[in-house]
Amino acid sequence: MTNAFSNTPAAERIIVALDCGRDEAIELAEKLRGRARWVKVGMTLYYACGPSIVAAFKQRGYKVFLDLKLHDIPFQIEGAAKSAALTGADMITMHIAGGQAMLEGAQRGVDAAAAERGDEQSAVTLGITVLTSMDEAALAQIGIERTPAEQVALLAGVAKEASISGVVASPQEAAMLREILGPRAYIVTPGVRPAGADKGDQSRVATPAQAFQNGASHIVIGRPITKAVDPAAAFDDIVAELS
Ligand code: C5P
Repeated sequence: MTNAFSNTPAAERIIVALDCGRDEAIELAEKLRGRARWVKVGMTLYYACGPSIVAAFKQRGYKVFLDLKLHDIPFQIEGAAKSAALTGADMITMHIAGGQAMLEGAQRGVDAAAAERGDEQSAVTLGITVLTSMDEAALAQIGIERTPAEQVALLAGVAKEASISGVVASPQEAAMLREILGPRAYIVTPGVRPAGADKGDQSRVATPAQAFQNGASHIVIGRPITKAVDPAAAFDDIVAELS
């Protein structure tokens, strides 16, 4: 099934996760400059560096996926999402478990930030469904008597009701989510490994091509690029594998 992202060049659909310290992250951004379009800033890097790390990547021409997984009352999340988007971040995340009103607050926050910045488009709002570290037993322990897949589908429905941009999901769930959310939704999938790459601590992996075939709009890849001897060549190889 094609989707709204099918014709976007592969290099613009790969988000490089920079899970390292500031200096190494900047060095990687320099090495990948002109090739990669997106970088991911997670909590470790952001809480160490603050908004200046987003600005550092924006200055180098990157779009920034700011993965802070917000979860609080709607009023607080509206403010947090606005602040996150005002850093210049192009994509932010929040837990769908916070509820529809919270997601709607997040959307208002990014819309307000776009108006204030004079941006044509608001930052992309992505809902986190079920953390892949949670299995059925872990869900049962917090009172959720469903399989992870059932819970993912249920939460995707809440994201759809709230009209946020999309979700973060495993490549295995992407096809189901594409069905639920339709062709225009962002479906961003980590857990991606190029054919033949070391899986590291990822267990249920897909190749970049499989993730896109399953309906992912964007894929998140970290260590296969960042820990490569030549990160730029590793990035180019993945793009080549896709075209
Ligand atoms: O290095 P690697 O390619 O495994 O990095 C994947 C990135 O995606 C990391 O930043 C990781 O935190 C994130 N992630 C993940 N699995 C999830 C959610 C996020 O690997 N379920």
